[in-house]
Amino acid sequence: MPDFETLIQNVFVLDGSGTEPKKASVAITAGRIAQVGDTGGCSAEKTIDGDDRVLAPGFVDAHSHDDLYLIRSPQMLPKLSQGVTTVIVGNCGISGSPTELEKDPPHPANLLGQTDEFRYAQFSEYVKAVAAAVPAVNVAAFVGHTTLRSNHMDRLDREATPHELAAMRAQLAEALAHGAIGLSTGLAYKSAHSASEEEVAALAEPLNAAGAIYATHMRSEGEHVLDAIQETLRLGDRCKIPIVVSHLKCGGMDNWHQSGEMLRLLQTANTTQAVGWDCYPYAASSTILDPRQVDDRIQITVTWSDQFPALAGQPLSSIAKKWGVSPLEAAARLQPAGAIYHSMSENDVRAILANPFTMIGSDGLPNDIFPHPRLWGTFPRVLGHYSRDEQLFSLPEAVRKMTSLPAQRFGLHNRGWIKEGFAADLVLFDPTTVRDEATFSDPVRPADGIEAVWVNGVLSYHKQTPTGRRGGRFLPRQPRNNANSTTQDQTK
Ligand code: ZN
Ligand code: CU
Repeated sequence: MPDFETLIQNVFVLDGSGTEPKKASVAITAGRIAQVGDTGGCSAEKTIDGDDRVLAPGFVDAHSHDDLYLIRSPQMLPKLSQGVTTVIVGNCGISGSPTELEKDPPHPANLLGQTDEFRYAQFSEYVKAVAAAVPAVNVAAFVGHTTLRSNHMDRLDREATPHELAAMRAQLAEALAHGAIGLSTGLAYKSAHSASEEEVAALAEPLNAAGAIYATHMRSEGEHVLDAIQETLRLGDRCKIPIVVSHLKCGGMDNWHQSGEMLRLLQTANTTQAVGWDCYPYAASSTILDPRQVDDRIQITVTWSDQFPALAGQPLSSIAKKWGVSPLEAAARLQPAGAIYHSMSENDVRAILANPFTMIGSDGLPNDIFPHPRLWGTFPRVLGHYSRDEQLFSLPEAVRKMTSLPAQRFGLHNRGWIKEGFAADLVLFDPTTVRDEATFSDPVRPADGIEAVWVNGVLSYHKQTPTGRRGGRFLPRQPRNNANSTTQDQTK
């Protein structure tokens, strides 16, 4: 009987802590890391020679919209091919459950999938569906505030009544009881913008006792972003809950260069309350085609349109020109639709990315016909472009931002580090060649340099190809004291 199931030899181990790599071997048995270090003389059923490449904990996508995609396409190639082994779903106020739809999903829940895919009236049913699908990556899930609103309100352009709030709270309680990691909001969207701070607090209030967390696509990411940060911090303080600000950015040309002030606010708060945030490594955002974001000064590309699917990938300005109308009128005709907005400054993106508290989240939109390249490129871009080529931070630091930091923030028990006893979620990559191949003109391309990916010990991606074996699981929320402290991170 061999000593281990899998032995990965001759690798430089980046353990996720941010410290320098160490030459070692890593052994896996029964889905866990059995040994790290010198395994000389040990045998294994399968031995892989790492050829002096880097072995890191699998990446955690801190912000995804894969809720329904991972059931429809359990191979999860856009993420697996980047070395991602866990996705956080249910962000921006929209989640694949608990909800059962007969009519079209409200904006922006239509980013997640088609009407008939929203069929999990109870969160527990979603958990079962994930288990049955056996996605290639692990899944931890938020419940969306907008989703709860649309379940119980006849219209979304107003505040919820006490009666509606009680129904929303009951649904959230059911989800928390079945392992949801917390509540997310998307207050910038019309479907939630009328919800007051009071409404959100009434829903967020039970999160503390449950050991759950709050993630938010804030009320503003542009002109009023500093007010929106204050609102978020007040909520976290008032409800005594850890908060995560999603895709931190200065959106819109008139709001550039606020990143220093934003980071200062968040970091100051972080000394007295638990605050986290994530960011994607691009100076362009993507969501539904929102007339409020149409600005002639920036490039806007259509990612999908129900009326005109063939126009996906075209600049909004060319469509407008061809039709002989204004970009705003073209945007109205394309609805419902999605878009990419080149609306950020590279300097702000760099300042946010480089901050030691910043996690990496793709915010990838897997259902878009012509998606933002972040869907396939985020993690290799941080490693290749920003760390190796631009030297914005070291490689160990890049890995820490994508592994132990989010594992700690989201309470992922025994993940995010290469340590004996931890889950064998691992990625082997070549630090000299790793890079994102997906671009704004050719966005559906797997990354280069990701050599092998293990999820719970299952070799799922090897030599740029999925192996056909999938090892992902639904990760229920763990008691907070078990799940690594959520306050006062030991960040360096
Ligand atoms: Zn969002
Ligand atoms: Cu999002």
